[in-house]
Amino acid sequence: MARLRIKDILKTIPTNQTITVKGWVRTFRNNSFIALNDGSTNNNLQIVVDFTNTAEETLKRITTGAAISATGMLIASQGKGQTVEIKATSVEIIGDSDAEKYPLQPKKHSLEFLREIAHLRFRTNTFGAVFRVRNSLAFAVHKFFNEKGFLYMHTPIISANDAEGAGETFHVTNFDLNNIPKDESGAIDYKQDFFGKSVNLTVSGQLEGELAAMAFSDIYTFGPTFRAENSNTVRHLAEFWMIEPEMAFYELKDNMDLAEEMLQYVIKYALDNNLEDIEFLSQRLEEEEKQKPQNERNELSLLDKLKFCLDNKFERVTYTQAIEILRECNHNKKKKFTYLVDKWGVDLQSEHERYLVEKHFKKPVILTDYPKEIKSFYMRQNDDGKTVAAMDILFPGIGEIVGGSQREERLDKLETRMKEMGIPVEELSWYLDTRRFGTCPHAGFGLGFERLILFITGMTNIRDVIPFPRTPKNCEF
Ligand code: 4AD
Ligand code: MG
Repeated sequence: MARLRIKDILKTIPTNQTITVKGWVRTFRNNSFIALNDGSTNNNLQIVVDFTNTAEETLKRITTGAAISATGMLIASQGKGQTVEIKATSVEIIGDSDAEKYPLQPKKHSLEFLREIAHLRFRTNTFGAVFRVRNSLAFAVHKFFNEKGFLYMHTPIISANDAEGAGETFHVTNFDLNNIPKDESGAIDYKQDFFGKSVNLTVSGQLEGELAAMAFSDIYTFGPTFRAENSNTVRHLAEFWMIEPEMAFYELKDNMDLAEEMLQYVIKYALDNNLEDIEFLSQRLEEEEKQKPQNERNELSLLDKLKFCLDNKFERVTYTQAIEILRECNHNKKKKFTYLVDKWGVDLQSEHERYLVEKHFKKPVILTDYPKEIKSFYMRQNDDGKTVAAMDILFPGIGEIVGGSQREERLDKLETRMKEMGIPVEELSWYLDTRRFGTCPHAGFGLGFERLILFITGMTNIRDVIPFPRTPKNCEF
């Protein structure tokens, strides 16, 4: 008999038909009631076993974590909290689970503990909800761009460029590390390496994306990116997923409009399609917040926060305005920031970003026109000679979620800036060709997928929204 999904079964009106379900046992009470879960929803299906007619041997093997198949009649349930249940005529054990050794006990585990058993944490309510939301969001991203006529471009994972010029790349090599070939001068001889040169894992698909935009007009990439930045924070991963659209004939304002529209679209998609999971996560967060002192609690519930984002335009402010606000605010005057804001030109720390978003504007903020010194080489230089057409989107509880800019499309200006910043002009000659042959204004941005998921699920640690987190000194599974 065909297997039905529990999510669908729970929605049907029982007509006493016989059906088969398969899943993993969450609990087994009184030798009679199995709570079965198959990951399609956090809700379990109750299977009622007639223990008088079931072999003792089988009953013993219905343990937490075991994979089973149950066949029986779908009937209206008398039990609390469920409309239907299965009156089993047969239960088959597919895969045993030693209840004594099974790491997931029917109790609340800490998120830290669950990270150590990432191969099993999918089976918990919290991670079930998180990863169903993640799945939906990935689909929503593709749906959004597809509906807008964007072309999905696969940019490479192994790359010869460091798009951000920040030197935070992971090298890719097949050298024997105990015997690395050197040239006469003693330098590593990359000519003998697999690709014949020094290459790395991509930190961003942007440069390749720009090439594609110069032919297809509107493109996006959505793939894994890698950064060897030694940031052990709740918002940094060494391997994360990024969504990077790149559009020809776009200026900074068009870029901001697109980013805002996209964020609202995917949030709405999640609310429309994953409400049950988000409600669960919202409640989970409320419980967690109760542990915190009153003044540290969020003013809005997760659900209200998401709705608020849909109903309100993002605030748009320049870096210069933001610095004024920060410099003048009481928090700064009372020296409550770790990094005090004293002069124009300083880079914003996440404490500053969060102050602007959470305390000052109380809504998502798009910051624009940053000093050129603190931004990447490819950003378009403004006429003031000091700033570039950059945009960062800051979200409550997260800080920076999007980083983007209008690109410098003028060859001479770009080359000059690259030389000033020590970016290898020769090596990036292929990139500069876009400025030689039919250059045009263009813009794009990068959305950190895990940061988006953090925001929508209300989770606080980025390690808890990616299936297998990779962070400094940690690469399990
Ligand atoms: O601001 P970033 O570095 O921008 C770029 O990479 C541009 N090339 C994007 C573009 O214009 N096409 O990174 C973009 C976003 C950040 O705003 C953040 O959300 C996320 O990527 N991000 C990270 N997420 C998790 N862990 C990290 N280590 C991240 N670094 C950046
Ligand atoms: Mg950035």
